Amino acid sequence: MPKTRTLGRTGWQVTEIGYGAWGLGGNQWRGHSENDAIAALRRALDLGLNFIDSALAYNEGHSEQLIARTLRETGASAYVATKIPPKNRLWPARPGIGIQDVFPYDYCIASTEASLRNLGVETIDLQQFHVWNPEWVECDDWRRAIEDLKQAGKVRCFGISINDHQPASALTAIDTGLIDTVQVIYNIFDQSPEKELFPLCLQRNIGVLGRVPLDEGALTGTITPATRFDPAEFRASYFRGDRKREVFEKVNSLSAALRSAGCVDPLPVTALRFCLSNPAVSTVIPGMRQVRNVEENLAVSLSGPLPAHILSVLKQHAWDKNYYS
Ligand SMILES: NC(=O)c1ccc[n+]([C@@H]2O[C@H](COP(=O)([O-])OP(=O)(O)OC[C@H]3O[C@@H](n4cnc5c(N)ncnc54)[C@H](OP(=O)(O)O)[C@@H]3O)[C@@H](O)[C@H]2O)c1
Repeated sequence: MPKTRTLGRTGWQVTEIGYGAWGLGGNQWRGHSENDAIAALRRALDLGLNFIDSALAYNEGHSEQLIARTLRETGASAYVATKIPPKNRLWPARPGIGIQDVFPYDYCIASTEASLRNLGVETIDLQQFHVWNPEWVECDDWRRAIEDLKQAGKVRCFGISINDHQPASALTAIDTGLIDTVQVIYNIFDQSPEKELFPLCLQRNIGVLGRVPLDEGALTGTITPATRFDPAEFRASYFRGDRKREVFEKVNSLSAALRSAGCVDPLPVTALRFCLSNPAVSTVIPGMRQVRNVEENLAVSLSGPLPAHILSVLKQHAWDKNYYS
């Protein structure tokens, strides 16, 4: 049974390892069958995992539907987070594009209704904005949508899934007091949330979902210059051109440094322990479409934080890049 942490001011006790459900039935991920991914989710629930992150945009609601079906069939209970996709379908949010094009009030309500139907529930545990632009902080639409959806009992808590590699862009939204959680890229390569976002989340008791803890697979140590992705998979673009060689070299240097420091764990285990070593993190949500990954990752929760000398080695391996662009 993985350990739990409190998800900020929601007060929920969530497992330190959650389930990232982008690849569950997802058309942007290839290489494993839908049944493999469902089996992985079932195994995770069986082992006690109780937090799942999905989105209406993940294969147009199919990920949400598979989660609903799996929870129904297993009888397991879990907190489910989902997201309102940007109306203009642009990830990340672009400066200068107003909230009317991205999260107008009526659209936020309609999108939530669609997720309620897909999830087969009357109330969504955690609804999140799938992109964020701090220029919208004073706008009425998102504030009213939060208030009305909560009041109507359709959403329990609200969060922001922060734009890739822009952790500070959510600071002013947190200041409004309307946000219960943030979801942010946090891994050995992108340690930037430690600067301003995490201290503010601790101070304001905001729950933190650490996303992409394995840098889309870079931090699994399995990517080499010869790795080939299905051209239809999102990672064919993420790791395009010379990037696989770049990742391979960075990971080799990281692994050598860890070995010299006496760390013998597999790299994915160290990568997840790195995230959980920060007390601001409530849960990390790796994508897991294989039972063996679920078993390895959930066991990490029992290992506790990394020792200080390993954390100081990892500090040296932060890497400022943006492969999403
Ligand atoms: N904008 C947003 O809001 C946003 C963006 C991205 C992600 N997310 C959320 O964050 C979650 C996690 O991110 P992600 O899935 O994109 O990337 P990730 O968790 O960094 O990496 C997933 C990759 O790691 C592999 N993996 C997992 N555990 C492993 C292990 N123990 N050993 C070896 N390989 C392992 C998976 O293998 P398999 O391929 O075999 O499954 C998959 O290829 C998503 O599922 C989604 O819920 C949100």
